[in-house]
Amino acid sequence: MKATELAQIALTEDCTGAIANPIYLSTAYAHQGLGQSTGYDYTRTKNPTRNAFEEAFAKLEGGISTFATASGMASIQLICNLFQTGDEILVSYDLYGGTFRLFQFYEQQYGIKFKYVHFEDITEVAAHINANTRAFFIEPISNPLMIDIDPAPYYILAKQHDILTIIDNTFLTPYLSTPLKDGADIVLHSATKYIGGHNDVLAGVVTVKDPELAEQLNILHNMIGATLSPFDSYLLQRGLKTLHLRVERSEENAQRLAQRCQTLDGIAEVLYSGRTGMLSLRLQPDYSVGALLKHIQVCRFAESLGGTETFITFPYTQTHVDMPDEEKDQRGIDQHLIRLSIGVEAYEDIENDLIQALQKSREDVTV
Ligand SMILES: Cc1ncc(COP(=O)(O)O)c(C=O)c1O
Repeated sequence: MKATELAQIALTEDCTGAIANPIYLSTAYAHQGLGQSTGYDYTRTKNPTRNAFEEAFAKLEGGISTFATASGMASIQLICNLFQTGDEILVSYDLYGGTFRLFQFYEQQYGIKFKYVHFEDITEVAAHINANTRAFFIEPISNPLMIDIDPAPYYILAKQHDILTIIDNTFLTPYLSTPLKDGADIVLHSATKYIGGHNDVLAGVVTVKDPELAEQLNILHNMIGATLSPFDSYLLQRGLKTLHLRVERSEENAQRLAQRCQTLDGIAEVLYSGRTGMLSLRLQPDYSVGALLKHIQVCRFAESLGGTETFITFPYTQTHVDMPDEEKDQRGIDQHLIRLSIGVEAYEDIENDLIQALQKSREDVTV
């Protein structure tokens, strides 16, 4: 996706020429007579502001329909409702803790089985396919270990077995990757992150290219009702206009920081895919995450990602709090691991802040 295309797609209001998308707060729409409709009846079903965003987003993704939901988790829940008891879904091993928690609930409550497999190894995945397998669920850059998985071979494998491929593309955004164009069936994002981009909107999006799947999701979206509000839809459409600038800047900052951290005292391991603004760092055993977080001044200790500000998250007690400790330890999500979502600040401010916080935290520990 080229930056110029992105900017143009964000401008959709052609009836008045308004540059910023109008916010239609009306929940109900008057009919001219029996059997007549403007196309809008009730806002849960369809809202002009949400619709404008959904159409723009579907174009960006190369899909036919986007469904904007009240959160990223609502998007994943919407997708879960496509499946029934006995169905099996193969899920990438390292993934967002909230998704893990929702899948556990669906397994216990509704008997849908979620099997965690290493998508780095296609033979392992293929060995788990059976007559009940209905989908692959992949985070192409895993959270929080930043494992880079190429989903392309799975599109072919999925077609051979009549399996859906679902991609959680939150980290990459449509600016860096458009999986529907490559062969995926369903793409979702926590739009709370890069799409909104300013830490002021909670939202999710699901996009598909198959008309039958679109119709099924359309019915579920309206029926379940976790649809995105007009104001939040407006914020997402505004976010699209600067997505390319923000993604480029945070990726560039992250690439520089990942390089610098390779030789920084206190850092034992840099986990970075080389793409996106997301990277994780493992501190050396004699450094403490708590002490580091006490001293940061530019970076913020907060639990989200993809915004203009650099955030440091502690997966052990934040994003992955509901994962049993033994499971976390086994996966390498330990008490020295921090996840950074690099923002769009001046690079030097981020680097200097991390260096001074590491130094001061070391002094704390040794005093
Ligand atoms: C990769 C990923 N998917 C989904 C979600 C859930 O999104 P939300 O917090 O908007 O419900 C998150 C949240 O952090 C995430 O990181």
